[in-house]
Amino acid sequence: MTETMNISLTRTTNSRLKETDLENPVFGKIYSDHMFIADYCDGDWQDLRIEPYGNINLSPANTTLHYASTIFEGLKAHRGIDGSVLVFRPQANAARMVKSAERMCMPPVPEDLFMYAMTELLRVDQEWVPSKKGTSLYIRPFQIAMDPYIGIRPSDTYTFYIITGPVGSYYSEPVKVKIETHYTRAAAGGTGFAKTGGNYAAALYPAVEAAKEGYNQLIWTDGIRHEYVEESGTMNLMFVINDTLVTAPTGDTILKGITRDSILQLAKDEGMAIEERPIKVSEVMGAIENGSMQEAFGAGTAATITPIKTIGFDGKDYDLPPVENWKYASNFLDLLSKIKVGAISDAHGWLYRI
Ligand code: COI
Repeated sequence: MTETMNISLTRTTNSRLKETDLENPVFGKIYSDHMFIADYCDGDWQDLRIEPYGNINLSPANTTLHYASTIFEGLKAHRGIDGSVLVFRPQANAARMVKSAERMCMPPVPEDLFMYAMTELLRVDQEWVPSKKGTSLYIRPFQIAMDPYIGIRPSDTYTFYIITGPVGSYYSEPVKVKIETHYTRAAAGGTGFAKTGGNYAAALYPAVEAAKEGYNQLIWTDGIRHEYVEESGTMNLMFVINDTLVTAPTGDTILKGITRDSILQLAKDEGMAIEERPIKVSEVMGAIENGSMQEAFGAGTAATITPIKTIGFDGKDYDLPPVENWKYASNFLDLLSKIKVGAISDAHGWLYRI
């Protein structure tokens, strides 16, 4: 497809860059000057363009507004120590978006279109990539159905967008999470593995209920007996038990996180014992009680590595060992942060240079 790809560019005449505080960007509040757009109709992606960031015009009958026919991705560009713009594993996001599209009955965005569009957009807005430690440019590709039709069927038309914005950390400190044993995020055969809006919308009510009790997030459990821990909605979950990194296998109920995969690779590189296997809630609670649970953390693009300080279960809170004494999560965070800015060797070829 690359030979035929031609992106038209309309530059903003009103850049917001100068008035933006790139040193302290709050997650999800600031957007860069431009966005990428491509329309799908008559069986092909057409009219590839980069335009000033702005509102989009939708029919009130737009099928996405009614039936959540939407998928998205999240990835980050970092300012390398040599000043370059380095994107972390974008090909993995492009491939995952294809999988989400297939599950949601959408025409996949070809991976070369995803990569080309992202590259060109970042070239235009490269000055928006912040350089302060802990900051990055968050990249949010998304695809929505566009038919103005309120009957239920796959749409004939879609639009693919990429917006970006400078961000700091998603969670500013270690989190308190509650093991959810009533509500269900994803069921076998459902859409839990897909990055689709409905998964997140359906999680809001239980998350808001838990927030009233002081929890930042939920640990979702399986939808059958609520016996096994799954993921956290904004992050995959990882535990260090007896110096072994334990995480649930991804399947159709758990998002195949790219940060999760990267940490597993780094752990392998360091010779750490790893177990990717179903984890019972009772095992997690037992390990906290008998002291074998050394660390527990969430892993995600937005969240990077977020330590879990307390786990709530059955009306009681269980504290993990003090985060300042942990060694594994901080080591993974340090390694990942250094790889992402080109400060240490990118042994697995994870960086994509703009
Ligand atoms: C990401 O980590 O990029 C996500 O898409 C999660 C979202 C909750 C911000």
